[in-house]
Amino acid sequence: MSIDFHDQRNQTTYASRTAEEKWMQTIQQFVDIQGKQVLDLGCGGGIYSKVFAMSGAAHVTAMDFSLEMLKGAQANCKELSNIDYVQGNAWDTGLVDEQMDVLLERALIHHIDDLDACFQEANRILKSEGRFIIQDRTPEDCSLPGSETHIRGYFFEKYPRLLDKEINRRHSSEQVQHVLQDNGFELIAEVSFWETRRVYAAVNELEEDLLKRTGRSILHDLSDEELVELVSYIKNKLGDSPSIKEEDRWTIWIAKKK
Ligand SMILES: C[S@@+](CC[C@H](N)C(=O)[O-])C[C@H]1O[C@@H](n2cnc3c(N)ncnc32)[C@H](O)[C@@H]1O
Repeated sequence: MSIDFHDQRNQTTYASRTAEEKWMQTIQQFVDIQGKQVLDLGCGGGIYSKVFAMSGAAHVTAMDFSLEMLKGAQANCKELSNIDYVQGNAWDTGLVDEQMDVLLERALIHHIDDLDACFQEANRILKSEGRFIIQDRTPEDCSLPGSETHIRGYFFEKYPRLLDKEINRRHSSEQVQHVLQDNGFELIAEVSFWETRRVYAAVNELEEDLLKRTGRSILHDLSDEELVELVSYIKNKLGDSPSIKEEDRWTIWIAKKK
């Protein structure tokens, strides 16, 4: 069964991490966010809304189609006064034309079949020369083998059917580039990026995180019994590692509205 983003039990699943500094440094190599109007679309628990709001953006709109996610984001960003929380859909945001300087869609597009409608809406709400940042995994990112840092690879080693689902729902780099071009965007950069997901002090912290399926929608496709088996498989692979730095590989596309 797929994750239900509208279920109150998943409210904090995308709120429990902190974005690493390297992430914002990479974005700022290509995008000036100082004093800008930013939309974080598919904001989940607001991890990235928060980092924009704290790094010089004038205002951040945190948008999600799930009210539960928005509640999680609001709780996560409660100290910040330059964020508002708006319910909206990726292809129908309800925002006025040419309102935003910067649009982030992080880990959103693999939940979207109609990328064309989504990027058309992105073009409508961005100002001329506005920047569109998309971050997701391509099928190649998903197919990397498991290792002591790339824990996700073990999910697919243990359950190949998960890799089939993962590859099916991910858009290729060529597809993303093509749909960007069709919708009036010019690609500025495409970056392959290893992002630290979390550092666990001991294997049992990772175990706890996996058993809760925190921020890992693909694990909602496993039964509780299968998940327990997966955790034991991963523990066996990791042996006596004193601490674990978990990293995921992503692709970041940065485009400019023409
Ligand atoms: C994998 S989470 C990513 C959350 C956040 N962007 C992050 O990177 O931590 C995907 C988010 O997109 C939201 N979402 C999925 N489909 C959506 C749609 N069509 N319109 C708006 N939000 C959507 C979900 O509710 C969820 O919060």
